Amino acid sequence: MSGHGAPQPLTAHRGGPLTGTAQVPGDKSISHRALILGAMAVGETKIAGLLEGRDVLDTGRAMTALGADVVSHGAGRWSVHGVGVGGFAEPETVIDCGNSGTGVRLLMGAVATHDFATTFTGDASLNGRPMGRVTDPLALFGARAVGRSGGRLPLTLVGAASPVPARYATPVPSAQVKSAVLLAGLNAPGETVVIEREATRDHSERMLAGFGATVTTEASREGRMITLQGRPELVPQEITVPRDPSSAAFPVCAALIVEGSDVLVPNIGLNPTRAGLFETLREMGADLTYESPRVEGGEPVADLRARFSPDMKGIEVPPGRAASMIDEYPILSVVAAFAEGVTGMPGVAELRVKESDRIDAMATGLRASGVTVEDGPDWWRVTGRGPAGVPGGTTVAARLDHRVAMSFLCLGLAARDRVTVDDAGPIATSFPAFEPLMRDLGARFTRPE
Ligand code: S3P
Repeated sequence: MSGHGAPQPLTAHRGGPLTGTAQVPGDKSISHRALILGAMAVGETKIAGLLEGRDVLDTGRAMTALGADVVSHGAGRWSVHGVGVGGFAEPETVIDCGNSGTGVRLLMGAVATHDFATTFTGDASLNGRPMGRVTDPLALFGARAVGRSGGRLPLTLVGAASPVPARYATPVPSAQVKSAVLLAGLNAPGETVVIEREATRDHSERMLAGFGATVTTEASREGRMITLQGRPELVPQEITVPRDPSSAAFPVCAALIVEGSDVLVPNIGLNPTRAGLFETLREMGADLTYESPRVEGGEPVADLRARFSPDMKGIEVPPGRAASMIDEYPILSVVAAFAEGVTGMPGVAELRVKESDRIDAMATGLRASGVTVEDGPDWWRVTGRGPAGVPGGTTVAARLDHRVAMSFLCLGLAARDRVTVDDAGPIATSFPAFEPLMRDLGARFTRPE
């Protein structure tokens, strides 16, 4: 089993305002896809701004194991010499995806239509997560999976020797499932179709088209229908990865709740399938502005400016917005704790099967910090403390979940008493520079004895 070594506890304290500029890392979703599609193109793809977090590096190693040539040129610049669609070779060892659900699910799709077997494993968090949601549709192509009970990792996927294309309506809103099916469809003859009831992040569709695949999206009675023509020749690309809105969420939200703060977070991608948190914060009354809005590489981009916002009010987050902010509910629940009134978050059953059960992880730590939280199978509700402030003064469990760890550290920067996270190690999966970046803004962190 992979892991990241001894637990690294970290304590956040209330201090002065957060000020300055926060250069957050490259987008995790786009980084995974850049490596995988680069490996499936013929020739050399050049990537700038790749997120060098553990999750993405694990995907890079997997591409090497499958026969691609993945090389770091320093400071986020990488090249991938791809083997072409259908050109992966059987890996010699088990593929370890560490903590990354996106990594393993996309990789399973990519190998499902190759005539060899691949065994996948991960850390304790990943090995507890559901994989049937991916192996079920991959069976339609002819792939067979043998895993532990409940279809969990470690799992061996025997790829289809003679793949057939698939048509699949995703039962849960999941960009990972959609992307796995599309990646499998690359090496199947004919048309692969995925239908999703709610739009999830569309990076795979955009990038597949960028690499030269024929992929169309249309509205149908069943939902958003994506059609991919199989067996394209993918053409190598030069990709500049935009900065991650899901990482930007942490300095932005910390600035909103720490008195006197004023933080600029430049160059953040505001693709509508990712920007739900910022919309929600603005509806709550956050002083959050989009400066110099522009279009870069076909994606809307802006510099986010967040200032301390003592007058935020709780709102009911529309369930239809969940997919566009699915990774941001943990940090939203922290902001909600400082707002006045109730923030309701319905339609979020998916939060229970992320790197941790995020509703339970956040509710437990927020309650220990003096905040009232109610929850059910697919909803939760935070009663904000408004001007009374959040007591804090507790140690919370990160549960191998980077976003839970970062959320509670942000809470500790604004709570009356310190907040300790039992293990900040998982933060390196998505945002390795979180601690120094936040310290540069003025955050006070200490390492407990
Ligand atoms: C991701 C999709 C989301 C998200 C994850 C990244 C992706 O998961 O939570 O962090 O890159 O496709 P689901 O597709 O399971 O909702």
